[in-house]
Amino acid sequence: MKYLRFLVFLATVISQYHRDLGVEATSSEGFVSRKGVQFILNGKPFYADGFNAYWLTYEATDPTARYKITHACENAIRHGLTIARTWGFNDGASYRALQTAPGFYDENTFQGLDFVISEAKRVGLKMIITFVNNWSDYGGKKQYVDWAKSKGEKVSSDDDFYTNSLTKQFYKNHVKTMVNRVNTFTKVAYKDEPTIMGWELMNEPQCKSDRSGKTLMAWINEMAPYVKSVDPNHLLTTGHEGFYGDSSPQRKTSLNPPAANVVGADFIANHNIDAIDFASIHCAPDLWFQKLNQKTRMHFLRKWVEGHIEDAHNILQKPLILGEFGIGTNVRGYTLAKRDAIFTLTYKIIYASAQRGGSGGGALFWDLISDDMSNSKDPSGILLSNSSSTVNIISEATRKLGLINAKVKFSRKIKN
Ligand SMILES: *[C@@H]1O[C@H](CO)[C@@H](O)[C@H](O)[C@H]1NC(C)=O
Ligand SMILES: *[C@@H]1O[C@H](CO)[C@@H](O)[C@H](O)[C@H]1NC(C)=O
Repeated sequence: MKYLRFLVFLATVISQYHRDLGVEATSSEGFVSRKGVQFILNGKPFYADGFNAYWLTYEATDPTARYKITHACENAIRHGLTIARTWGFNDGASYRALQTAPGFYDENTFQGLDFVISEAKRVGLKMIITFVNNWSDYGGKKQYVDWAKSKGEKVSSDDDFYTNSLTKQFYKNHVKTMVNRVNTFTKVAYKDEPTIMGWELMNEPQCKSDRSGKTLMAWINEMAPYVKSVDPNHLLTTGHEGFYGDSSPQRKTSLNPPAANVVGADFIANHNIDAIDFASIHCAPDLWFQKLNQKTRMHFLRKWVEGHIEDAHNILQKPLILGEFGIGTNVRGYTLAKRDAIFTLTYKIIYASAQRGGSGGGALFWDLISDDMSNSKDPSGILLSNSSSTVNIISEATRKLGLINAKVKFSRKIKN
């Protein structure tokens, strides 16, 4: 009898394991939604780790290079990674730009993005796509301001992006173009595509010209409902780094890196509006505290991620995605052991929250690279086909997190 029960138990575990490996393809087909502090997929809580790969569309613009996207997507799924975060922008006159001038798009590049989405769909990935950059890489808010200037607008600083009526119109037009794009491979409009898990308003929004945070807040208050009005199907977040502002003075002093107090962001206020469905943070102690030692940085990592998960749970009552974490080999004092420690601790915090049915929805490392890529010298790049201790840590973390999803576990009113 005992033996029989053990066999039944074993069979259950094995079938669950198979499901987690994505063997049941139907399990990834629905839209990701949210209920309370959790993401939901096909009626079940959805906790998932993933990766950043900003280069996907750029590479996919060249049809002969598309196998790199295929390899990356297949390898990611094989390692249990289920969320891909990438850029939905490349603005300006640069090579392979997406939006070459306000309202003008390069069809080749758009087909590159189409291909990325269709491959993600084929293997069962979910995507988080960002509309614009704070930084001038790939154009960004600076490009929008330059466009407005060339049309005679009186703009000077990059931060005029948030207030100038023409740059705001350009941004809305871009959002509208993106969500209404009909994928040339799948024939599905982006706004109807369940492979897209959600949109981000901007990568790392900051507005240093208004430290009070009012300017950025006003922009989010205008743009988040706009995105929802043209695409009510998808989740939306800010793309925030997680810096606290005046709405949480205590967190501002106890958690923020000192430099974060002047960037005009406000983690709580910026996520505390209806049109924002989930919270976004990034974690880069190696960049934010270049002078501190590893032990202090790890201590910060824990406090930063746990603190935000707690606030997402108790104050925002929404799920949270750690949208970027990792370390570059070019950081002073880098060792593989340090990278492994960062990955291990990050996944441990997400897992602990998921186990409690909490807000910690998943963590996306920066960044995934593919075989024979032009950017394979990327210091933060992780090549999954190159077996390393970090790759093992990733596989083990996603396997454990997948087991939680297999159990139906809805959030209860417990402390995060
Ligand atoms: C955002 O852009 C401003 C320039 O407008 C720059 O000073 C700041 O460092 C950027 N920060 C991030 C995190 O993107
Ligand atoms: C791949 O592995 C080799 C040998 O371990 C290592 O030298 C190289 O840096 C790795 N490359 C990447 C991108 O991980």
